[in-house]
Order: sequence, then C-alpha cells, then structure tokens
Amino acid sequence: MSGELRALIVEDSADDAALLVRELKRGGFSVDFLCVETPEALRHALEGAPGDRPWGIVIADFSLPKLSGLDALRLLKETGQDIPFILISGAVSEDIAVSVMKAGAQDFITKGNLSRLVPAVERELKEAAHRGGRRRMEEEVRAINERLVHANKMASLGTLASGVAHEINNPNNYIMLNAELLSDAWKDAAAILEGYYRSNGDFMLGGLPFSEMKKTVPELLSGIADGARRIKDIVDGLKDFSRIESADLHREFDVNRAVDAAVRLLSNEITRYTDIFTFAPAADLPPVKGSAQRIEQVIINLIMNSLHALGGRGRGVWLGTFYDAATDSVIIKVKDEGGGMPKEVAVRATEPFFTTKTDMGGTGLGLSISYSIIKEHGGALEFESAPGIGTIAMVRLPAASRAGQAQTGQG
Ligand SMILES: Nc1ncnc2c1ncn2[C@@H]1O[C@H](COP(=O)(O)OP(=O)(O)O)[C@@H](O)[C@H]1O
Ligand SMILES: [Mg+2]
Repeated sequence: MSGELRALIVEDSADDAALLVRELKRGGFSVDFLCVETPEALRHALEGAPGDRPWGIVIADFSLPKLSGLDALRLLKETGQDIPFILISGAVSEDIAVSVMKAGAQDFITKGNLSRLVPAVERELKEAAHRGGRRRMEEEVRAINERLVHANKMASLGTLASGVAHEINNPNNYIMLNAELLSDAWKDAAAILEGYYRSNGDFMLGGLPFSEMKKTVPELLSGIADGARRIKDIVDGLKDFSRIESADLHREFDVNRAVDAAVRLLSNEITRYTDIFTFAPAADLPPVKGSAQRIEQVIINLIMNSLHALGGRGRGVWLGTFYDAATDSVIIKVKDEGGGMPKEVAVRATEPFFTTKTDMGGTGLGLSISYSIIKEHGGALEFESAPGIGTIAMVRLPAASRAGQAQTGQG
C-alpha cells in the first residue's frame, strides 16, 4: 500500500523524526509531516486551520522533555478526533506497554523494531477509514429516524386534529347561530322593556338594574359571537392542517407570483414591523406543481413569524427565491434578524398548537399548516435558527419538469 500521509510527529529530536519519515517513505508513503515537541504546539496542530486536510496519523515519542507520549495521547483524545496514535520508545517494560495500550494508543513500537512501523500505519489507516464510514452511516440512519418519527407524529396529530375540529365545529355552529338569533330577539325585547321602565321605574334583570343591563346585554351577545368566530378560525386552521384530500395539485404555477402576492397582501404588516424588507426573486425559475394559494398561505405564515420575531424596526427580513440544480427544486428562503429559536423551540415549531406567543394571540397553527401544505406538495420545510441572531426558513418544492434546463438565481 502507498499513498499520501499527513503525519503529526511528536518528537524533540530532529534526527529521530527524520528516521521515522524515512521509514514511512521507504514503505511507499508520500509523507507530509509536522514535528512538534510542546503541548501548545501539539494542541495548535490538532486544531488545524480551516481548509487543512485532517491528520492521518499521530506518531509520538514515549518521553520528551516537555511532553510525555501519554500526555500527547490525552491531548488527542480531548479533541474528540479519531486519529490513530502510535507510540515509539526505547526499551520499556511490559507493564508500561500495557498501560499505554489501555490509554487508547493503537500501537506501541520500540525504536529497535522500526520495521513494524509501516505495517502498523497501513493497518491503522484502514481501520480508521472503516470507523469513519460506519460513523457517517450511523449519523445518516439517526437523521432518517428523526425525520420518520417527526412525520409519524405529525400524521397522528393530523388525525387527532381533524377529529377535534369536527367535534368542536357542530356545537360552535349552534353558538354562532343562537347568538345571532338572541341578538335580534334582544332588540325587540329591549324596546318593550324600555317602555315598561319608563312607566314603572327601574327593575332587576339577572341581578342587575335594567338601566345598566340595557347597555351590557348587547355587549355580552356580541362577545359570544366574537368568541365563536375565533373558535371557527381555529377549527378552520385545524381542518387545513389535517386535510388529507388535496385540491388541484397538478396545475403548474410560478412561485415568484405566489411570493409576490403574499408580500403585497402583507404590505401593511411589513411596514408596521420593519424598515428593512427585501424580496429578491430569481429570474427564470422553473414552475412548480400545486396550489399557488396554499403556497402563498405558507409564505404569509413564514413572513408573519419573521416579523413577530424581529423586536425592532432596525432589524430586517429578506425574502428570496432560487433554483437549486442539485436537487432540481425551487427554494423559497425567508431570513430574519429576529430573536431566533432555541433548540427546544425549533424542534417543536411545526407541532400544531405549539406557540411561544400566547400573549400576542398566537395559535401555534401557522407552521403546522405550512408543514402539511409543503408535504402534500412533495417538498420540505426546514429551519436554521440561532438564538440572538435570527432564523432562516427554507421551503423546497420539486420543480415541474422543464426540458432539462438549469438556471440559477440569487437567494
Ligand atoms: N422566524 C421565527 N423566529 C423565531 N421564532 C419562530 C419563527 N418562526 C416560528 N417561530 C416559533 O415557532 C412557534 C410556532 O410558530 P407558528 O406555528 O407560526 O405559531 P404562532 O406564530 O401562532 O406562534 C412560534 O410561536 C415561535 O416560537
Ligand atoms: Mg405564526
């Protein structure tokens, strides 16, 4: 085996380091190495600079004036990097060798037996590559699992929500109709009661004098009607969230126009919350398939959330669309300089009824509805958020086929 090897050598003697490098080169490696002899230099080298290739191997002398081989091993472990570590020493006792291996070194080679170095390095490089592959696969499986759990949770919440919506809808209809009828009835009754009041003086109604109740009752009745209307809005939201059958999702439309419509609809809200708002539509986006109205609804939710998060007119919201050739999809990006979401909020943001805005009338339905709309379009809704810095919401929609063209705009 041969190949490029980036080796970090912990050694105070330049001659010994040169000997190691020569041995590796003889074994067929083209070696790029750095030699360090202090803890600071080792730490610095392990941190590396951005763009550096990772170290392939660390080879350390067992005892140096400023740093023992075991210290070097400990420093490497502290960084959490999985780099094979080989210790080199003069003759040492067997129990020292054992303790070194226990501390996590991959191999222990004596200076009199350097011919073992190359096979040991080859073996360790192979195993490290193997470990790396397994780690990446495990991470991928974990990510897929998380998405499945989330999708499953959303599906059962959808079933629950549609059941609840149905149950609430009927009684709420009675409330709305009855409140209206009672209002009309009250107008008639009030005229008669007023006549009675004029000729006989004040009297009690529900424990309060009529002179007072004639003002209060209409307020009570309209309070009932308002409350029922708000319940109806929430129920409609729930139905949207749990809607399984879809509207016409086969029509092609231009995402820029949906975004534009949302921006125009919200122009008052936008100027109310911020001085900094831009929309940069990509030129020549491919069309997507689905319902322009529902995508508009998603954009409205995302923009409103960003505006709510700002906390000052000096903070901005940027809206952009672009085409991502790698995934052949159209992306809508809403970026804000708002308060951002801590992790525990971000993971729950798309759950129905999850809101941190109870005080300002948040229902917690906006993102759950948006999520299910984007899902029925075969797309994805993702967030990147940093508390104190802001949030980026990304909607990804599959592009409708367009004779193999690829055009990129700015986001
Ligand atoms: N751009 C954003 N910046 C900060 N927090 C956000 C943002 N978008 C959503 N959130 C969080 O997600 C929660 C749920 O959002 P949503 O479903 O739209 O419900 P609502 O806006 O009614 O609270 C919000 O209450 C808020 O905590
Ligand atoms: Mg919202």
